[in-house]
Amino acid sequence: MDDQVIVSHADSLSHTEIETQLQDGPGVLIVRGAYQDNSLLDVVADHFYKRIQREGGHAADHFAAGSNQRLWNSLNKLAEDAPQLFSDYYGNEWLHVVSEAWLGPLYQITAQVNVVVPGGSPQTGHRDYHLGFYPESLVKKMPNLIRQASTKMTLQGAIIHCDVPTEMGPTKLLLGSQNDPDGYLTYRRAEEQTRFERECSQIPFKKGDLVFFNPSIFHAAGGNNTSEPRLVNLLQVSAALAKPMEHIDFVGLVRHVYPHLLDQTDEALVARAIRALVDAYPFPSNLDRDPPSDDWLGELETSWLLEAWRVKETPEVVLAAYTERREKRTYNTP
Ligand SMILES: [Fe+2]
Repeated sequence: MDDQVIVSHADSLSHTEIETQLQDGPGVLIVRGAYQDNSLLDVVADHFYKRIQREGGHAADHFAAGSNQRLWNSLNKLAEDAPQLFSDYYGNEWLHVVSEAWLGPLYQITAQVNVVVPGGSPQTGHRDYHLGFYPESLVKKMPNLIRQASTKMTLQGAIIHCDVPTEMGPTKLLLGSQNDPDGYLTYRRAEEQTRFERECSQIPFKKGDLVFFNPSIFHAAGGNNTSEPRLVNLLQVSAALAKPMEHIDFVGLVRHVYPHLLDQTDEALVARAIRALVDAYPFPSNLDRDPPSDDWLGELETSWLLEAWRVKETPEVVLAAYTERREKRTYNTP
């Protein structure tokens, strides 16, 4: 199966071939040597390491707490630290060919560096953004069509900055699992974790590879059993189509309307109104100031505001807290 996963940077693949590979084939595409200039990767990695050091090193990881370092929003941070490298690095042809094949011409890139230090633990098997982040209780409420569509709304990628032999823990992938029925609902179950560990593939990566995978594939980063750190820059490429049509001033809405919510007594009505009042989704955010939580649902602005209404929090307190919440989510380039 490995030879169905790997292509060379010199190959030419049609959009249909790429889409078929990610949807109906193994669900993974590794482009060997997508980056031909190793010195570019080295100097970019240097900037990432320096930035991680300046920030004091992050240890927040949703699926392997404490064993690695993160650099959130490495897109903005590279532009701040080494703007002269940005176009060669993020203008890579294969990055855009595969993004366009999966998402069409309207897409948005975000990037987060992940460093697994020597001795770093493996992740547990999981599925990713969007629906892999949420508990079964929420995924169950998603209409089937939305569950299927969610996998077409984003593309996972990784720019590989160093050779990653098996002992360094290249991503474990259960090839073809993107089409498991109800995969987002079942992946946490013990029998599914056992099947994952028994049947997954672990294909060594090479420096300069670009790795893409279907976001619903069952996968996990491996443990690093070498003396060298493993640095990859993870990419989340999103379809631009799900953005709302207008920019909403959420703080303005809360400032004007919340005092009047306190005059209401029908909680169901208030809960519905709140859905039109605050941001329905915890992303995009600034993950430095608003780091990953195990309780995404509890963190929803809708849940938070409804709770404030229930305890009759004053408008002044709500507005101050909400303004702070919204500011935490923004990224301001110095
Ligand atoms: Fe993941």
